[in-house]
Amino acid sequence: MDVTQGANPAKETLMGAQTVPYRGEAHASAAALTPDEVIALRRTHFFPCTQHFYQRPPVLISGSMQKVTDGEGREYTDFFAGVSVVATGHCNPAIAEATAQQVRKLQHTTTIYLTEPSALLAQRLAKLLDYPRVFFCNSGSEANEGALVLARRHTKRKGFISLTQSLHGRTSLTTSVTGLSMWRTDPFPDPDVYFIPRPYEYGMDPQQAAQISLDALEQTLREHGDRIAAMIVEPIQGNGGMIVMPDGYLARAKALLESYGVLMIADEIQTGFGRTGQLLASVQLGVKPDIVTMAKALGGGIPIGAFAAAEEVAASLNVPSASTFGGNPVSAVTALAVLDYIESEQLTERAARLGAAFKLGLERMKTYYPQIVSEVRGMGLMLGAELRADDPAVGAALTDRVLEEMKDRGFLVGKNGVFRNVLAFQPPIVIDTADIENMLEALDAVLGGIDQDRIKALDAEGAGEGEAQ
Ligand SMILES: Cc1ncc(COP(=O)(O)O)c(C=O)c1O
Repeated sequence: MDVTQGANPAKETLMGAQTVPYRGEAHASAAALTPDEVIALRRTHFFPCTQHFYQRPPVLISGSMQKVTDGEGREYTDFFAGVSVVATGHCNPAIAEATAQQVRKLQHTTTIYLTEPSALLAQRLAKLLDYPRVFFCNSGSEANEGALVLARRHTKRKGFISLTQSLHGRTSLTTSVTGLSMWRTDPFPDPDVYFIPRPYEYGMDPQQAAQISLDALEQTLREHGDRIAAMIVEPIQGNGGMIVMPDGYLARAKALLESYGVLMIADEIQTGFGRTGQLLASVQLGVKPDIVTMAKALGGGIPIGAFAAAEEVAASLNVPSASTFGGNPVSAVTALAVLDYIESEQLTERAARLGAAFKLGLERMKTYYPQIVSEVRGMGLMLGAELRADDPAVGAALTDRVLEEMKDRGFLVGKNGVFRNVLAFQPPIVIDTADIENMLEALDAVLGGIDQDRIKALDAEGAGEGEAQ
């Protein structure tokens, strides 16, 4: 239907032509598109970098807390939460109502004008996280980029230290400090980045791996310390395969950095806001970084990013800088509602409690299927199970197969890791024990259905096409 047909001629002239189609109907009936039609549109109009999970992906059209529903009415329990974002549940009524009210009241002004929500959110975060200053932006990449620039301004040095197999974003500078090669998109990364080995190696004692990493840190600081502004680190490497920084590692790294006047930036974009058992995983792992970055779960699905710092560091961001959407009233009100919900429902405690039981369940899978599950890792409701660490190509093919079969049984599981062979479990924290038990039962059946011949066949097939950040 073309509503410009027969419309006011002056309006037609302004539009220049009668070819602008009416889009409302198409949006309202989006569920009418089949998965193949959505794939065809994406293949035609998205950039070729865009990939998706599954050989037979569903089109997801609605969500409610830990459940999502596809265009054919099939319901799935979500164990990935849109990569750690929807921690407080899909379309959580308590949060969605606050967002909707703000959408109807005032949507946008920028920080040039005074509004209440962003000021209240800054105050709330300062109190909760113990960082007095906050800068709002729109995404994780932007938060990390801002934090890196802040570190450069504060130290008047250019270089950075980062860990191998890390992921920090999609902008030019954040891809430069990203260790995972598949996410280093910019062909001309910033040359002043020093990568040190992450404190993990399959089969190695965590303290030994920590020592190797710290030795490399010390050497890098000795050789280049006077040119380095900050070290950026994820307390748990999410995309790197759910690698938790070993006990004491972050505190020892911080002490070394301090002795060279180098800042520590904790990238809490995936770990932040309750998932690991505390609001910030860095606190849980025993360190107070100079700058923390956050995004994802803070907005519960509404885009928001932020970095926070101590007074003295924040003082260095003293030239005009503003983000058009940063601190937008809709995202700020949503984030306040997210924080209210985390607090009132005690989601941090819930993540710790459910996560401990969940992890035991995954460990059980490892004992049942030692030829498939190599290692179970993570903290709280940020867990991973690596498949076939001895042969990651087979592990990756198995991971894709497990994801597909779990989806067919009604469970959305994620994947990550250097070789994309780690099952990732980051469900909405509102998930309950029965959901976890049902998922583990399905996982048991799926893993139990994989025999050695099948592993060989998968090896011959190679990895599937689905990928996602
Ligand atoms: C640890 C970490 N940092 C940064 C980012 C980038 O965040 P965004 O995609 O919001 O730009 C991600 C995204 O997955 C992430 O996991």
